[in-house]
Order: sequence, then structure tokens, then C-alpha cells
Amino acid sequence: MLPGVGFGADVDIPGRCGLPFPPGVDAANWPQWIQQHDREIRSRLRRGEEDSLVNFILFGVSFTTRPRVMPGQPDQSLIDARIHDFLSALNSSTTSERIALLRRLAPDEQSIRTNISRYLTERRQYANVLDRASAGDPVASQLYKNRGLSIDTNFRPNFAIEKTLASLKSRGTLTFVSRAAIIGPGLDFTDKDSGFDYYPLQTLQPFALIDSLLRLGLAKIPDLRVGVFDISPETLGHLNRARNKPYTVQLVLDKTRPWQKNTLDYWNRFGDRIGVPVPPLPAPKQIQNVERRAVRIRPAIVNALDAHELNIVVQHADEKYDLIVGTNVFVYYDAFDQALAMLNLESMLSPGGILLSNTSLPECPGELLHRIASEPVEYSAAPGDDDLVEIYSNSALRRSLAPR
Ligand SMILES: C[S@@+](CC[C@H](N)C(=O)[O-])C[C@H]1O[C@@H](n2cnc3c(N)ncnc32)[C@H](O)[C@@H]1O
Repeated sequence: MLPGVGFGADVDIPGRCGLPFPPGVDAANWPQWIQQHDREIRSRLRRGEEDSLVNFILFGVSFTTRPRVMPGQPDQSLIDARIHDFLSALNSSTTSERIALLRRLAPDEQSIRTNISRYLTERRQYANVLDRASAGDPVASQLYKNRGLSIDTNFRPNFAIEKTLASLKSRGTLTFVSRAAIIGPGLDFTDKDSGFDYYPLQTLQPFALIDSLLRLGLAKIPDLRVGVFDISPETLGHLNRARNKPYTVQLVLDKTRPWQKNTLDYWNRFGDRIGVPVPPLPAPKQIQNVERRAVRIRPAIVNALDAHELNIVVQHADEKYDLIVGTNVFVYYDAFDQALAMLNLESMLSPGGILLSNTSLPECPGELLHRIASEPVEYSAAPGDDDLVEIYSNSALRRSLAPR
């Protein structure tokens, strides 16, 4: 365990949040249970990496020139050919960071086929649940609770965070941030949706947050420090290798989406406070209809990040932060785990601190951390391509936010 990162294993945690202990668990065996639970959660990372493997084989373009698979109509001969190309890349001397990560999963042809068929079956099941959800089925909110923990990311949630920060600034709720934290920044691996793999593996959220804070005049370099916490050793390893060097991000926009103008404006300004524009890498021919830009981020910005391994459900850092951001992380957990995470998050917030999450989190009776407002964001005119950022604060004075 890293210095400054403690286990949130206080025996009274369930009682504190008004939650009953899980079945068979009591104050005496709570410390053992929480350690076992940590191991269970970490085992879901492996399943998430197996999903990344499948996404990479079906949609990747860095190891093959074949077309991407259409997930709605999977073509078995195309999948077979892509598995073959992937195995050749895996056994080659490539230095690709993505291939190196997938090599650690030691996939063989049989396990790859099993994972692809599991993934396609789950995809159909999720699509069915989502169809029913549009008719008001609450099962949809349970969709991710037992799933593998995905590490993937794209630029969109960062627009939602910038819009929320602008709103908090205009209401006078947030005036200055000298210590910020991100829970689960993720890696842009091969998102099935709008992420690609023809450029080097990258993370976006830590840089996007600094960019937004500087743009809004809410922080200054070199005073700002950003704690970056993730359960995934791969994400942490990537961030630690980035230190003391410029870091180039490739931004690729799918032009076929009916983006909202504000989203496009955000995509176009991403990075302008933290780096300089550089020529983007060319896209391979399987990738059509995209717009590309790239930004070379200054080493001083990269070095403002302090990366630590942490499972926010069972651990907290001893540091205090003015602002904590966690997007597309808590959706993977049930209400009990979310309540534990809330207690850990509360212990990491400075007085008057703000927590932003695009998942609604349970508020613990008797605790200070409460939802004070929410910020809706529409990324595009496509159905469901939107978000709601929930704003929590531990300030007793801010039980509801002043109007804009
Ligand atoms: C789907 S990605 C989201 C990335 C990014 N925040 C975004 O919104 O695009 C989820 C991230 O949360 C991390 N994560 C999941 N569970 C976590 C936990 N219990 N503690 C810390 N990080 C966690 C994953 O490793 C991954 O980096």
C-alpha cells in the first residue's frame, strides 16, 4: 500500500451510513470482509481487460487492415481473420503499449473465441434490457453492477465536467482549486464507440481537468496539484511513465454523429491552455469520416499529476482535495459499494469541497456530503447521448445551490 493511502476499514462504516452489514458480516469480521471485497473488486478488472481485448480485436485498426466488425451484424469470417491478425501481432516484436497490456492477459485462440462469444451475447442482452428500459424498466440502472471494470475513456465526460465547473464558478460556489483529484481517469484503449487505436495509448481526463480549471481561471500552474487515483495498475503505470516529458494527445472526432455545437466547440478548444497544437497522426483507411487534431502538453502539466493506486470503495487517501471528479466509475457498483465510496470520498474532501460524478450516489444520513445541484449535458442529438453531472458538497451552508 502506498504511503498516505489508508484502508477505509473502520468497523462502524455500515452503521455510519445507515446501511445494514452484508449477510453474514458483523463488526467482528468486517476487516476481513472488506479485504476480501477488495480482492473481488480487483478481479473484475481482469474481466474488463478481457472486454478491452475483444474491443481491440473487433474494432482495432493498428494490427490489421481489415474492416472493423459491425457489432449488430457480426461476420464470423471477418472475426476469424481478425483473430488471426491479432495473434500474429501478439507474437511479433511490436512495442505497442496496447499489445503489451493484452500480452499480460496471455490470451490463446480458444480463450479469445470464448471471450468474443461472451461479449457478443452480453451485448445482445444489454441491448434487450436497454430496449425495455426505454419503456421505464429500472433494471437498466443495474446493468453495470456485475460487469468487468472497463478502463476505456473518451473526451465527452470532460466536456460535461467543464460545463459543470463553469456553472459552479458563475454561481460563486467554486472560486479556486489548488488540490484536485480524479478517481478512475481510464485509458483511451479501443472504445467500441468513438475511441480508436491507431495512435499511442493515452489518458485524457487528468489533462482535460487541468485545461478546464486554467481556462475558467479556477487554478494556476505551478500551484495546482492533481491526485490521480485508479484501481488499474495499467493506468497508473502509463501515467508514471509519462513524467518529465511532453505528452501528446490525439483527438479524433466521429463526424457522422449529430454533435451539439457546444460539444464541438469543446473538442476544438481541448488542450489550448496546457499545450500547443501539433500535426495529428494520419488515420488508417478503415477509419473514415473523422476530424483529427493533436496537442503536445507541456511537461510542467504532466508533472502536476500525482498518480496512486487506490480502490475508492474500500480505501481513501489521507490528503484533502478542493475538488474530486469521478465519471463513469461508480456506475459499476451497487448501492452498498457506492455508499462505502461516498464515505471514502467525504474523508478526502476539504471543508467546502466539491465532488462531481455522472452517477447519482447514495447520501449517508448523518454525514456532511450532500447533493447540492446537477448539471445536464447533451453531447449530441443521438438518443441517450447525454449526461447528468451530480454536484455534491460537504458544506453545511450549501444544502442547495444559489440560482445562477
Ligand atoms: C470506464 S473508465 C472511465 C474513465 C473516465 N473517468 C471517463 O469518464 O471516461 C473507469 C475507470 O475507473 C477505474 N475504476 C473502476 N473502479 C474503481 C475503483 N473502485 N477505484 C478506483 N478506480 C476505479 C477504472 O480502472 C477506469 O480507469
